[in-house]
Amino acid sequence: MEDPGIKLPKGFYLGTASAAYQIEGATTQDGRGPSIWDQYVKTPGAIENGDTACDHYNRWPEDVEIMRHLGLNAYRFSIGWSRVLPKGRGKINKKGLDFYSQLIDALLEAKITPFVTLNHIELPQKLPEEGGGWLRRGVHHDFREYADTVTQELGDRVKHWTTFNEPWELAWQGYHTGEDAPGLRLGIDSALEASHNVNLSHGHAVQTIRDNVPDAKVGIVIHLNHVEPATQNPEDIAAAKRWEGCQNRWYLDPIYRGEYPEDMKELYGPLLPEIQPDDMETIQQPLDYLGLNMYRRSVVADGTDLAPVNIKRISPPGEYSDMGWEVYPKGLYDILKWTDSNYPTKKIYVTENGAAFNDPVTPDGRCHDTRRVAFLREYIKQALKARTEGVPLHGYFAWSTMDNFEWAYGYNMRFGVTYIDFQTQKRTIKDSGYLLQKIAETL
Ligand code: FCB
Repeated sequence: MEDPGIKLPKGFYLGTASAAYQIEGATTQDGRGPSIWDQYVKTPGAIENGDTACDHYNRWPEDVEIMRHLGLNAYRFSIGWSRVLPKGRGKINKKGLDFYSQLIDALLEAKITPFVTLNHIELPQKLPEEGGGWLRRGVHHDFREYADTVTQELGDRVKHWTTFNEPWELAWQGYHTGEDAPGLRLGIDSALEASHNVNLSHGHAVQTIRDNVPDAKVGIVIHLNHVEPATQNPEDIAAAKRWEGCQNRWYLDPIYRGEYPEDMKELYGPLLPEIQPDDMETIQQPLDYLGLNMYRRSVVADGTDLAPVNIKRISPPGEYSDMGWEVYPKGLYDILKWTDSNYPTKKIYVTENGAAFNDPVTPDGRCHDTRRVAFLREYIKQALKARTEGVPLHGYFAWSTMDNFEWAYGYNMRFGVTYIDFQTQKRTIKDSGYLLQKIAETL
């Protein structure tokens, strides 16, 4: 592997990220309860090519060994709520907790710091069956119980806790556009309702984590994209502002400022959920870090999508991944700078960044994912540039640890730095994995 010309600062975390449902498999093993995804994948047409898994639940020792071999010093993963509490609340599945406990011990033994996410676009199927799911305000009681159960058991060893991954995706894609489980196509009022309930759950869980793990570092992960108007026309500039409000500010403002953005409240008007007197105080908990997921910048024109947000996404000329997402490394620099200047925070981690390039294993037994090598190298450089200009960036996690279940795309989109043969479950470290190894040598 050629020298990528990257030197990581002292104390920096370099790792990969994954999510429970995307890698674990073993959906009925050892007492796990069904999640909304188990239900959703059965919907005809919902998922492209979606019927196998990485079986990480059984093969985790090999996966940890790969990370150790690559010299990574951190790993971000999530816990499957229904593996721990099969019905969402009540009876604990000890075997599910044991799985995470053993994984964490092995990581610590390999000198890999665990960053644990409590919720990565998931919910035990039992909860919506009883009514509402994320649309039920009281769901925060269940989330708090879950956070309590997990942190009591694992908090002695895990110090980095994330409440949620990407509230926008969970709420909008689950309840409005219907791309993600539970796949509902309800009005935007439902997406906003789900968002508010997620925010409340976040606020309650932060308090529980701090009660159980006094030395915890607690944060949330938000998908943030730098938004640019397609032209300098006032209509496009206004559309860009609305999209920034919808995806970025609607999630950052309540957490960092204790309020939803005024311009968006006005725009949503009657679609807004009921906000009770203490809600914003509950949501605005002091945090130790912000996790920033970034995949592509948003170039936006005035349009008719997601009314009343009324935007149209534009694809500027340039390079695109197999997912059809633009490759634009400077976008990571831009969003880090934007976030830091608008929402000053103690620490930022890039908790996901990566691209789908579906390169195969070649006869030499390797996976030469040269486009991903270039992608990661250039994005990491841009992230470090933001850091040299004062952004408190302390870690970078590539998405993803291994090829996995890419939600509605099933197994058709490969994001991993390790290749998975989904028939045999054989793991092959890709060239991009070796790139991370080379960079990790500078730690
Ligand atoms: C993010 C999700 C992650 C993965 C990537 C490609 O939005 O957090 O689970 O699917 O997209």
